Amino acid sequence: MKSADIRSAYLGFFAEREHTIVASNSLIPGNDPTLLFTNSGMVQFKEALAGREQLGFTRAVSAQRCVRAGGKHNDLDNVGYTARHHTFFEMLGNFSFGDYFKVEAITWAWEFLTQVLRFDPARLWVTVHNDDIKRFDVKVIAVTGFPKSRITRLGDASNFWTMGDTGPCGPNSEIFFDHGATVPGGPPGSPDEDGDRYVEIWNLVFPQFDLQTDGRRLPLAQPGIDTGMGLERVAAALQGVHSNYETDQFRSIIRAAGQFAGINDERAMLANASVRVIADHIRATGFLIADGVVPGNEDRNYVLRRIIRRALRHGH
Ligand code: SER
Repeated sequence: MKSADIRSAYLGFFAEREHTIVASNSLIPGNDPTLLFTNSGMVQFKEALAGREQLGFTRAVSAQRCVRAGGKHNDLDNVGYTARHHTFFEMLGNFSFGDYFKVEAITWAWEFLTQVLRFDPARLWVTVHNDDIKRFDVKVIAVTGFPKSRITRLGDASNFWTMGDTGPCGPNSEIFFDHGATVPGGPPGSPDEDGDRYVEIWNLVFPQFDLQTDGRRLPLAQPGIDTGMGLERVAAALQGVHSNYETDQFRSIIRAAGQFAGINDERAMLANASVRVIADHIRATGFLIADGVVPGNEDRNYVLRRIIRRALRHGH
């Protein structure tokens, strides 16, 4: 499937399940001065998730443009050196504002992955927050038939999601795709989990708390659902390649960057970390400028300047 087909399949699948399709928000979060960039799909819904805003619907689905460079979620230094990290990426997400909760979210995720995208369940791996394991044992494994041997139980460090210093947050469950034994890396929770073999493709967050500036987690009046699927990562898995840079969205940019650098062979271009850095950073730069960020000396403007500088340095 092309990336555009995955995006529309996702939006369509959740629209059929009574979700309102909401357009991507700007990369400059309008409702949060503490956040440098929109870093996930839930940013534009954080007041609705916290129960402080009524949107007129209680289920939403979106394809959100995101930047993770600077701030709490910062992948900048990894970019170019892994198959899966980006400064700019698209997050497909479905959301419930006090409507459905875990069982529906997990059941639909399973259905979408295995029936619509036709992932082979044998290539999936799941992580569950320690506090959630009982529910999973009873309900989820029954719904999905997922084997316990590929479910890893982890704690807050990896399976508790917060947007930043404040806001709706909660334990999460992550779904990983196994790129196979030819790719270095171990399953989540293992010492070599940072390799590119097991790649997180979908994060299902179960927001139940509102994080305060003093660190307290106040319970939300109504728990919700916040999921995020990385479009570029899913595209790589479905297109049978091991790196996001080999997917349809990246190939022409890689080719152009490689040609500028005087590399003629496409394999050599893809193998070159600097070409990958440029391909990633030019997307972030283009989308940030389109959303009104300009290179400068402060805050988000400075992050954009750093992204451009990093690309230039790799160009040299
Ligand atoms: N907010 C979660 C994340 O960004 C799920 O959407 O991973």
